[in-house]
Amino acid sequence: MSDANRQIVLDQIPQGKLGPEHFKLIEAPRPAAGEGEALVRTRYISLDAANRAWMQGATYRSALTSGQVMAGGALSEVIASRDPALKPGDLVWGDTGWQEFATAPAQRLTKLPAMEPVTHLLSVYGVAGLTAYFGLLECGKPKAGETVVVSAAAGSVGSLVGQIARIKGCRVVGIAGGEAKGRWLVDELGFDAALDYKAGNLRAQLKEHAPGGIDVYFDNVGGDIFETCLFAMNNFGRIACCGALSQYDGAPPAHGPRGVPGLIVTKRLTLRGFVMYDFDDRREQALNDLQTWVAEGRLKVQEDILEGLENTPAALIGLLAGENRGKRMVKV
Ligand SMILES: NC(=O)c1ccc[n+]([C@@H]2O[C@H](COP(=O)([O-])OP(=O)(O)OC[C@H]3O[C@@H](n4cnc5c(N)ncnc54)[C@H](OP(=O)(O)O)[C@@H]3O)[C@@H](O)[C@H]2O)c1
Repeated sequence: MSDANRQIVLDQIPQGKLGPEHFKLIEAPRPAAGEGEALVRTRYISLDAANRAWMQGATYRSALTSGQVMAGGALSEVIASRDPALKPGDLVWGDTGWQEFATAPAQRLTKLPAMEPVTHLLSVYGVAGLTAYFGLLECGKPKAGETVVVSAAAGSVGSLVGQIARIKGCRVVGIAGGEAKGRWLVDELGFDAALDYKAGNLRAQLKEHAPGGIDVYFDNVGGDIFETCLFAMNNFGRIACCGALSQYDGAPPAHGPRGVPGLIVTKRLTLRGFVMYDFDDRREQALNDLQTWVAEGRLKVQEDILEGLENTPAALIGLLAGENRGKRMVKV
């Protein structure tokens, strides 16, 4: 067996759109675990829109720098451990980056239960599922009968948000790019309606499919879609600010959305930003609910699995361009 470790390095920080030229595949020696660390073999790398946002500067984590192994969450298997908390064969989640092998302090690796399919640990029982669950229920606070609108609705977080809102008895409208995604949201996932933001005139589409206005808007994208939804909010509506996808890959917008803060005042809106880890103390309850809904067939899990470490840059570039349905990951 070779002792090499293939790694994808972030070669340059992109100034405009992310492209393959910003990454480089290299081979390094396989690392060895130090005291208190584990050596892990990567099985699935999670592709997240946030991977691109981290290149823009410090967020809830420090900014990425050129020359470093590209950061990213992954599901890995412990190969060797110098900490009693982990043993070979354990499955762990951690920010171990785009590489075949990694070492990390055992306390920065989260031990995961064995399950089939194991990929659900990255989708519905991972960041995407918990983000959808907490963002919608804790920040959006939907009530049965209300109208919930979600953007990037066919993506990993959005597809779960819409289905959870349906489970809670809400009318659900998803916003996604293209007719095919919209059909999938309605026919397969049970959304009440889907709007195609690429077809233009989102305002008119919203009027038609959410005629009573929006009570909860789950915002994954920011920008023009945020602004359009803001104008359609009902009094005392809630906006869960989950991410700003429209602004991750390219130059920042020249101006902010209209209606801020005027509409927030007159409509008495609540906007709440959150990061999934804020709700760690309620993780078990969330996982229980998600497992129950999946087992009952009420929550469908869509995964988009690509193969090969060398394809990870293209997988992220494609995610930002809207290639994916549901949770995108790369099998290493
Ligand atoms: N707060 C948290 O704790 C937390 C945790 C995880 C993720 N997030 C956020 O959740 C959001 C979803 O991320 P994800 O990783 O799950 O990705 P994702 O939704 O699976 O994939 C991204 C999707 O966004 C859509 N998109 C791309 N550019 C867009 C644009 N300019 N306007 C509208 N839609 C656009 C594309 O679909 P279309 O074909 O529809 O364009 C694409 O498929 C991101 O904002 C991310 O930062 C937040």
